[in-house]
Amino acid sequence: MSFSADWLALRERYDRSARNRDVLGRVAGAFVGNPAVAIVDLACGTGATLRAVAPHLPARQTWRLADNDLGLLARAAATERPAQAVVSPMPLDLARDLEAALDGPLDLVTASALLDLVSAAWLERFAVETAARRLPVYAALIYDGRVALDPADPFDTAVVGAVNRHQRRDKGFGPALGPAAAAAAVARFAEIGYEVVQGESDWVLGGADSEMQREVLSGWATAARELGELALADLVAWLTRRRDLIEAGRAGMRVGHVDFFAWPIVTRRAERSQSNSTSSPS
Ligand SMILES: C[S@@+](CC[C@H](N)C(=O)[O-])C[C@H]1O[C@@H](n2cnc3c(N)ncnc32)[C@H](O)[C@@H]1O
Repeated sequence: MSFSADWLALRERYDRSARNRDVLGRVAGAFVGNPAVAIVDLACGTGATLRAVAPHLPARQTWRLADNDLGLLARAAATERPAQAVVSPMPLDLARDLEAALDGPLDLVTASALLDLVSAAWLERFAVETAARRLPVYAALIYDGRVALDPADPFDTAVVGAVNRHQRRDKGFGPALGPAAAAAAVARFAEIGYEVVQGESDWVLGGADSEMQREVLSGWATAARELGELALADLVAWLTRRRDLIEAGRAGMRVGHVDFFAWPIVTRRAERSQSNSTSSPS
């Protein structure tokens, strides 16, 4: 599945303001006082996670940016970054080579707008592989299927239902968890002994956000058409009504997302400093 740089650029400011502040605050709090922090961002796109998260972490940062889209990765490699941040792009298929992305010295795994694309099997592998390395995980902007359109249209439910079924299709990782992903991930990390905080990170779009609203609705209409359950004429009529409302400045929408931060009770850094203090001569 491919994502255009234009779409990622359009959504970036909505993602940034939607990020759950409490969850991001917990991520920041976990690294206060660390001299440096090493992060891998899974499915980095053009580097939006780095741009959003870097200001909240200690100044000395090493970012490994992993994605299988070389065009997006090239943009990410050239992204603005804090003066003391070192960035290395990692071209890699996460469906196949997740473990390679997680190997080596790391303090944090980030992933934005990724987990709703993955399958239950891949999520299980992700949880096991991060837990085996005692790595904290900050996953943001996971679509959770909650949608409210204003004003409501009688056809909204049919379209949103189709979109949510389309979200369960294979996006390259096996049958996707789609709207079930965030709850499944939070439950799995809690089961395997992580502390987890979560919070909503919904896009809230109003009259001033016409371009974003148009793009979201077009994407949904395309997904619903691909699923083939709704009559094309009904879908086109629905999209036309919604676009007219947007043009009139009368449309609003809320699109549900979830962020979470999951951290193991004992991190590798704590373990390393524990073993240093017990092994060093007194
Ligand atoms: C919705 S975009 C999110 C990008 C970025 N994290 C952001 O928040 O802007 C999903 C990203 O997943 C990447 N992706 C999808 N399947 C992948 C795979 N199998 N391996 C690596 N990256 C993948 C895409 O190239 C894209 O950059």
